[in-house]
This record gives sequence, structure tokens and C-alpha cells, in this order.
Amino acid sequence: MKRENKIKNEESSEEKYSREMEEEHSPVLIKFDHVSKFFKNDQDILTDINLEIRKGEFVSIVGHSGAGKSTFLKLIYAEEMPTEGSVYFDGVSLDMISRRKLPYHRRRIGTIFQDFKLLSKKTVFENVAYAMEVCGAPRNEILEDVPQILDIVGLGDKMEKFPRQLSGGEQQRVVLARALIHKPHVIAADEPTGNLDPVSSMEMVKLLLDINKLGTTVILASHDHDIVNKAAKRVIVLDHGKIICDDAKGKYKIC
Ligand SMILES: Nc1ncnc2c1ncn2[C@@H]1O[C@H](COP(=O)(O)OP(=O)(O)OP(=O)(O)O)[C@@H](O)[C@H]1O
Ligand SMILES: [Mg+2]
Repeated sequence: MKRENKIKNEESSEEKYSREMEEEHSPVLIKFDHVSKFFKNDQDILTDINLEIRKGEFVSIVGHSGAGKSTFLKLIYAEEMPTEGSVYFDGVSLDMISRRKLPYHRRRIGTIFQDFKLLSKKTVFENVAYAMEVCGAPRNEILEDVPQILDIVGLGDKMEKFPRQLSGGEQQRVVLARALIHKPHVIAADEPTGNLDPVSSMEMVKLLLDINKLGTTVILASHDHDIVNKAAKRVIVLDHGKIICDDAKGKYKIC
């Protein structure tokens, strides 16, 4: 695996400009085409959503509780399917993916949730390695990849610790490492800082920004004003299942 070990600390304005130009012209990775979702006997959870997310973008999804943020992420992960319309990933409609091939689609998306779960009897290394083992990765690949990923999230020196010996922020970084292990195209983070203090939350958003700089598309659903503003990237506002704002360089706002 070729992966940059070190993340650059600061981008020059020239580098920033060329990255933004690249982003603007990069291919569409995710497309929602007239997507609506409703559950039995319920009103629309999402209504006629049309949007495109390009490769390498960092997108924050904000909105009131119940606005449909998690459902939006679940549609990308194909945990839910649209009632109407289609979600495309890399040009392929997700309803064309067979049940057998669904795990391959899901491996392209690394997920992080608020209520992260680590295996308490396994070390940091083993927790991340486990995600590779269950997919049949060879031992030598595991021994090479896991320390690299743990370095990226700043836990290179905590590989032998158990989850109970880590802070909440560190535990969430193990979850991020686990989400990165299959070299996903997308990180879908649903309230990843929900249980973290402000300092750990800022560290988490900084890491997500760093990972985004390395080329991974990031979609962040969050209530947290500070982290969405810190990201200073595209902000999509959902309200009662509709997009009411889609701002390229947005700030957290709920209209
Ligand atoms: N499986 C389901 N069956 C029925 N209704 C559902 C289901 N999943 C979600 N909903 C409803 O869809 C709406 C949107 O839920 P969703 O979890 O997407 O909101 P959210 O914006 O993520 O909210 P929060 O900020 O509280 O996490 C809610 O009213 C919820 O009750
Ligand atoms: Mg939610």
C-alpha cells in the first residue's frame, strides 16, 4: 500500500488554490437524482433531493434533529434504499448492485458514528487489524497497513493500549483508523463528535480535514456549529427532508 505517512501541516495558498480548482473539476462521485424516502405510514423523510458530490469534496450536512441527515448517509451506504429516484455512486445506481456485491460497495465507504464501538478485549492494533482480518487480508498486509493508519490518526504510540486506557477522543480516532483501513473513497461521519469535549471535537475535525487533503471525500453530518465552521467547507442544510441551502463555503446555519 502506498499511503502518505505524514500529513502536511499547512497548505500554501497556491496549493490550496490548485486543490480547490481540482475539486471543482473532479468527477462526480455521488449523485442524488430526484431522491425521496419515506417509511410505511409516514410522511416523506427526504423529498426530491437532487445533488452531486464530487471526488475529494468535504461536505457538511446540518439540520434540526429529524431533518433526515442520518437517512441521507444511510442512502449512500445503501443501508436504506430510496422510495423514489436513484442514488448513484461512481456513475452506478445503487439499486443495480446485487445483494452479493453490496459488501464491496460498503467497503468504499468508511463510516463513523457517535456511539462508536470498540472491542474492549482487543488492543488498538487488534481493533483496527480485526477489520482487515474479517475480510481475509493477509498477515503481512495487516502488519504493514495498521501501523501506518494509526500513525495518520496520531495513535502510533498507543497501539498496544486497550480502549479503556484511552480518552474518548483517542477512542474515536481508533474508530476513524478502522474506517480508513479499506482505503475508502468516502468517509461518512454521522455526529462523530457527539460524545466528545470541544478540544477532542476540534482534533477530530482537523483529522477529517487532513484525510480529505489526502484525497478522501468526507461527508460530515453534524449539529456542532464549531466543527462545521472550523471545516469552512460546503454546507448543505436539510429541513424537513428538503435541501434549503447548499453553500460552497458555508457556515453552520439552520434557517
Ligand atoms: N427506519 C425508520 N422507520 C421509520 N422512520 C424512520 C426510520 N429512520 C428514520 N426515521 C424517521 O425519519 C426522520 C429523519 O431521521 P434521521 O435519523 O435521518 O434524522 P437526523 O436528521 O439524523 O436526526 P438527528 O439529528 O436526531 O440524528 C425522523 O423523523 C425519524 O423518526
Ligand atoms: Mg442523525
